[in-house]
Amino acid sequence: LQALAAGSRPDFLVGAAVALGPLVSDAQYADAVVGNFGVITPENAMKPQALSPRQGEYSFEEADALLDVAASAGIAVHGHTIAFTEAMPRWMRELPTGSEEERQESAEVLLDYVTTVVTHFRGRLDSLDVVNEPFDLEQGTSLQENVWFRVFGPTYPVVVSQAVHDADPDVRQFINENGADVPGPRQDALLQLALDTNAQGGHIDGVGLQAHVYDLDTDALSADDLATTFASVEDAGLLVRISENDVTDSEGQTVQAEQYATVLAACFASTACVSYTTWGVDDAFDWWVDDDWTLQQGHDLLFDDGEPTPAYDAVREVL
Ligand code: XIL
Repeated sequence: LQALAAGSRPDFLVGAAVALGPLVSDAQYADAVVGNFGVITPENAMKPQALSPRQGEYSFEEADALLDVAASAGIAVHGHTIAFTEAMPRWMRELPTGSEEERQESAEVLLDYVTTVVTHFRGRLDSLDVVNEPFDLEQGTSLQENVWFRVFGPTYPVVVSQAVHDADPDVRQFINENGADVPGPRQDALLQLALDTNAQGGHIDGVGLQAHVYDLDTDALSADDLATTFASVEDAGLLVRISENDVTDSEGQTVQAEQYATVLAACFASTACVSYTTWGVDDAFDWWVDDDWTLQQGHDLLFDDGEPTPAYDAVREVL
C-alpha cells in the first residue's frame, strides 16, 4: 500500500496502529505490517500509563522494541500520545492542583514528563499527537478539565507543544480528536484550537481526525463532507492525518469496504492530508468495544487472520 501511494504522492504515509505482541509473535501480522505500511502508530506503548506507571520511573522497553522493528523495516513512527485524559497513570491523573503552590509543583512534574519522554524518542518520531481527545466526550466543544487543564489552564496545549518542540524541534505536532471528522462545531473547535495554540506560541502542524465509524447507518462519512473537511483544513493552513480509521461491518463487507475507500480517497486527493492510518492491522488482534467498553469481535480491518479483506482490496484500488 505504501509503495502504491508513493507512486503518486511520495510524502504520503499509509499506516496502521500496531501492538508489539503480535508484531514479534505472529508472522502473518508482521508480514502485513512490513509489507504494506510506511508508518505505524504504537497502539498503546507510548501512552503515559505505559511509559510511566509510577511517578519518576520510566519503562521505555516496549516502545523502544516497537521502534526498533519499525526502524529496521524502514517504517516511520507516529507517536501517540502526550496529553490524553484517558490514558494517564493514576499518579499523573491525581497530581494535586488545589493551591497555587501545588499547581506550580505539578507543572514541573508534568513538564518533566514531557521533556523526558520526547527527549528519549528524539529523532525517531516523524510526528506526534501532543494532545489527544481534547474535547469532552459528549461530542462537545469544550476542553476536558483534566490535570493538564487544571495545572496550566485552557491554554495547556501551548505549554505542551512548546515543551515538545524544545525537546525535539523536528517532530511534526498534531492534535488528535474523535467525532471531528464531519463539518460542524466540533471540527471548527478543533481547527480553532490548533490555530489558537500556534497564535500563542505553539508549534502545531496539523490535526488528526480519528474517523472511527462505529455505525454505518448513522456515522458513515460521505465523500462530500470529507472534501469540505479537507478544504477547511487547507484554508486554515494546517495539515491533517486520518489517524484511526476503522469501520464496523454492520452493513456487510461491501458497504464497509466502500467506506474505507471513500475516506482514503478524499484524504489522498487533498494535499493537506499527509497520512492515512487504520486503527489496527488484523481482525484477529483487534480492539473493538461496545457502549460499555467491553471488547466485541466481528468487524474487519484490512486483514483478517493474515488474509487481506475486501476493505484491503478497496483501499488498494484507491492508491
Ligand atoms: C485504544 C486501544 O486500541 C486499546 O487497545 C486500549 O485498550 C484503549 O485505547 N482513540 C485513541 C486510542 O486515541 O488511543 C484508543 O486506543 C482508541 C480510541
